[in-house]
Amino acid sequence: MLDEKLKQIQEQAEADFNTAKTSKELYDLKVKYLGKQGSLSLIMRDVGSLSKEERPEFGKRVNVVKAHLEKLYTSVEESLGAKELTLQIESERVDMSLPGPQINVGSKHPIQMVIDQMVSIFSKIGFSVRTGPMIELDKYNFEALNIPKDHPARDMQDTFYIDTNYVLRTQTSPIQIHSLEKETLPLRVLGPGAVFRVDADATHSPMFHQMEGMLVDKKVSMADLKGVLSFFNKEFFGSQVQTRFRPSFFPFTEPSAEVDCTCPGCSGKGCRLCSHTGWIEVGGCGLVHPNVFEQAGVSSKDWQGYAFGFGIERLAMGKYGINDIRLFSDNDTRFLEQFR
Ligand code: DAH
Repeated sequence: MLDEKLKQIQEQAEADFNTAKTSKELYDLKVKYLGKQGSLSLIMRDVGSLSKEERPEFGKRVNVVKAHLEKLYTSVEESLGAKELTLQIESERVDMSLPGPQINVGSKHPIQMVIDQMVSIFSKIGFSVRTGPMIELDKYNFEALNIPKDHPARDMQDTFYIDTNYVLRTQTSPIQIHSLEKETLPLRVLGPGAVFRVDADATHSPMFHQMEGMLVDKKVSMADLKGVLSFFNKEFFGSQVQTRFRPSFFPFTEPSAEVDCTCPGCSGKGCRLCSHTGWIEVGGCGLVHPNVFEQAGVSSKDWQGYAFGFGIERLAMGKYGINDIRLFSDNDTRFLEQFR
């Protein structure tokens, strides 16, 4: 009876082991037949039904079956394991010939590119960079620049007022004043930065950028100023570019001029970029007004100076043929990546 049962267990186990599909399934079968609560352990509990003489013999036979099944388990386990490994390798195979994921590399913003070029050109002739706060005292943005409260010149710039004392600076010119107050003379300073005005259309943006420049020395003339700005325009746009001054008014300079250069898009022949005038306006300039010197504690008898302020977007639009100022702040990567 027990022998018959043992034979059945053996046959069933062999069949099960041989048809197991995964190592996990096989392992569960090992527990089922060979484990502590497995069929072979359980059958030993029945030896009580045998005679004393038969028991050791039966025990030996169970051990033979057990050894046989363990061997079978090991060999099936090896071949299943090998198959599974092959499958795993196959499924995780990397095709080295496929193109890698694309990494998008950023680029400098065109405004920053122009600032960098300007700084590098002016640094050749001794100018170095200063900065100032974007939230500026009314005093620095206007009064110290010879624009008193209620003066009509304030209407030239539509201002974002924070309160009665503070404004978002409408120009980089206050950087001049900070330098005059703090630094020793003579000086050559360059002040790049963002400025703000209540204004928005295709050529005006509520935030834009300017590059201020100021030179203070013992003897300074409009001719010096024109020479320096012509040098800059040629370095920036190319040696064919001409520079002209048009008489103008700024409260902080006297005389004052508007700075134009021949349109880099058409070399002065006239095109859409320059509204068919052949010239583009790039900034304002002039000789520092004595009132500006005196208010900053600098003697206008001992010192003279010139100052200029370039519109950075203007320069970038001229150089790269851009006709809408809003493109600079839209953050459209199709626009930005053209400057990579
Ligand atoms: N701050 C002037 C503006 O925003 C530009 C300017 C003109 C700056 C003449 C100057 C200057 O330093 O001398 O319109």
